[in-house]
Amino acid sequence: MVNILSWSDSLATGFMEVDLQHKKLISIIDSVFQTIKEYDPEYALKMAKILKQLTDYTEYHFSEEESLMKRHGFPGFEGHKKQHDDFVAKVGKEIHLLAQASPDDGYLFYRFLGTWLLEHIAKSDHAWAEWLRDRGVRD
Ligand SMILES: [Fe+2]
Ligand SMILES: [Fe+2]
Repeated sequence: MVNILSWSDSLATGFMEVDLQHKKLISIIDSVFQTIKEYDPEYALKMAKILKQLTDYTEYHFSEEESLMKRHGFPGFEGHKKQHDDFVAKVGKEIHLLAQASPDDGYLFYRFLGTWLLEHIAKSDHAWAEWLRDRGVRD
């Protein structure tokens, strides 16, 4: 098992609040990895707690980001929101199974979470951030 997640400054959007939220999301997903690695008798309980934290914080972060995009009239808003919604739907579907699942399945899910987040930040979040910055929007 390999830890694929870490923050790098190339992920920064230039919007401080958003960057802090991304760091927090990375750290929550990192605790999914740590829980799998430790795999102890508390596994199911720990996993259930972290996944709840992940869904709550993801919802919070997505809605903050969406209101920022909307407020400034970002033209890619609908497509971006759809990426968020699809992610929430997928995570919501798997999350009930996951606390009971084997660590191997947990690890696959962790890889999905990690790669989705890093790619989403690097491509999609950077797209709205650049658009906003080009129009002089600062946080
Ligand atoms: Fe986003
Ligand atoms: Fe984001």
